[in-house]
Amino acid sequence: MKKMKIYEGVNTMYNSGLLKFKKIGSPSNKEFGYLTPIEEMEEIPFTIKRIYTIYGVGQNITRGMHSHKHLHQVLICINGSVDIRVENYFGEKKYTLNDPSVGLYVGPDNWREMSNFSEGTVLMVLASEKYDSDDYIRDYDDFIDYSKKKYEYGGKR
Ligand code: TYD
Repeated sequence: MKKMKIYEGVNTMYNSGLLKFKKIGSPSNKEFGYLTPIEEMEEIPFTIKRIYTIYGVGQNITRGMHSHKHLHQVLICINGSVDIRVENYFGEKKYTLNDPSVGLYVGPDNWREMSNFSEGTVLMVLASEKYDSDDYIRDYDDFIDYSKKKYEYGGKR
């Protein structure tokens, strides 16, 4: 994992935070638009093994509701708007993603919930590993137990 500058003042304990990407273009030439380059180990703090997109999600739907034991991800809302709630042993944090030049890094041991998708939202997820169903914790109580065991007493148990 590469150490990245997280521009929103997030306590690193939370193991999640916003990354600001380059936006090539100029507000004085709006019609020309913008270009945002994203490279692994540059803008993204890991090598990208998988990309998936979430789209066509209806109103009042919450997706996610799981944590990962080892997976690192960056979530980028390339169209529309979506709210992401991230929770771990140390606390919780809510983010709204609505800008393709911003990525939300979410590390392991974070319960995540995606909700409030606006119509037409496309959420792109860059992941550090290929799909592995064994890396998921899908039960909230199991997530709490797992985190307690791992982080209580500074993770010394
Ligand atoms: P899941 O991760 O459970 O999505 P969500 O938590 O948002 O509902 O994945 C939904 C389904 O898609 C599940 O059957 C596994 C499959 N899937 C893949 O095949 N590859 C992937 O990279 C991902 C993320 C999911």
